[in-house]
Amino acid sequence: MKKKISFIFGTRPEAIKLSPLILALKKYPEIETHVCVTGQHRQLLDQVLEVFGVIPDVDLALMQPDQTLGGLTSRAIAAIDAYLSNYKPDMVLVQGDTTTVFCAALCAFYYKIPVGHVEAGLRTWNKYSPFPEETNRVLATHLSTLHFAPTANSRNNLIKEGIEPTRIYVTGNTVIDALYLALDKVTANPPAISNLPDQIMVNGQQLILITGHRRENFGEGFRSICRAIKKLANQFPEATFVYPVHLNPNVQGPVFNLLGNGKNIHLIQPLSYLPFVALMNRSTVILTDSGGIQEEAPSLGKPVLVMREETERPEAVEMGTVKLVGTDEAAIFEETSTLLTDDKAYHAMANAVNPYGDGKATDRIISTCLKFIHEEGRCD
Ligand code: UD1
Ligand code: UDP
Repeated sequence: MKKKISFIFGTRPEAIKLSPLILALKKYPEIETHVCVTGQHRQLLDQVLEVFGVIPDVDLALMQPDQTLGGLTSRAIAAIDAYLSNYKPDMVLVQGDTTTVFCAALCAFYYKIPVGHVEAGLRTWNKYSPFPEETNRVLATHLSTLHFAPTANSRNNLIKEGIEPTRIYVTGNTVIDALYLALDKVTANPPAISNLPDQIMVNGQQLILITGHRRENFGEGFRSICRAIKKLANQFPEATFVYPVHLNPNVQGPVFNLLGNGKNIHLIQPLSYLPFVALMNRSTVILTDSGGIQEEAPSLGKPVLVMREETERPEAVEMGTVKLVGTDEAAIFEETSTLLTDDKAYHAMANAVNPYGDGKATDRIISTCLKFIHEEGRCD
């Protein structure tokens, strides 16, 4: 009988980081590869599935507008439990630190199905930052059997928490595999960027790309970020500020209210992955609180200012391509202004080196999973 491996995921970043694994595992005829999406995100998830041509076998369609953490968690546990009890996979693969990841790992644990955790071992050691992701990561770790750590640093974090070293595999991050797949497509066929005038992609002027969605920045954090962007747009009238605004109503509200579309500020819908990669590649500087973008941008040689107080991804900060600036209006203004005016400061950050992977994480993770499922296959 074929062994069954289920991928369970629900949001945009999980879909981006798992798609290379799904596409690769489907090439193994001895494995039944099953894709279960929770639909924690709807539009943002579907955009990614379309880009990679991944068709879910099961869609739990859980998203509700402005969902609460507890509400989503209870719906996800009920629905994933029913899925696992019906499909009975031999192994479950999850990625990252979302509510979907925690719920899928917990449900699989209850059935004693081994869980492989992709992107294991990221830590800030502050359980409220990022919230609730730091705690989701810790919980997912302790519910998992195989731990795919992107870097040596994340491996050390897992060892500090008592995880058996022989169950930790340093693989690189699959986001780099996804980025390379996307760059090939973007280069072969440059995508249009919806709601953005075509000349912005080719006019050679400075372009500041902005994204943000973290819960700990809701309220004053987002207001302060918006004030800084407005001030920068006035100070640098020749530069273009492009902000694909996350669909969370707690983000849309303040961003559209405080920023609005100005002469050189473009608030646009979240972009599908290929146009977003093209825009990252075109940008001068990226301002973000995103996790994935901190990992991708160094491959493109783009300086990243992270609008958070701390990061679980210290590697690129140590290499100098990423800088933490928090959400303070003056700090964001000063640091961005420096990068836009000081060539030396800019070039010190714009290095195309990436500590997060070489684009081969997929192969390492798959070969480990296949070995495990054929030789052991149990978690107790
Ligand atoms: C979630 C993850 C976060 C991840 C982020 C990636 C949790 C707790 N949070 O945050 O770790 O970094 O995704 O983007 O797991 N919405 C839509 N359409 C969509 C997506 C979201 O309308 O396609 C709106 C809905 O009103 C939804 C709300 O955004 O209720 C919040 O979505 P949710 O997944 O709970 O939180 P995110 O902030 O997106
Ligand atoms: N991304 C995208 N379109 C956008 C903004 C981001 O495709 O409009 C991609 C980005 O390249 C990265 C991922 O989404 O791979 C990051 O997702 P997000 O910031 O929502 O989540 P996080 O990584 O913070 O969990």
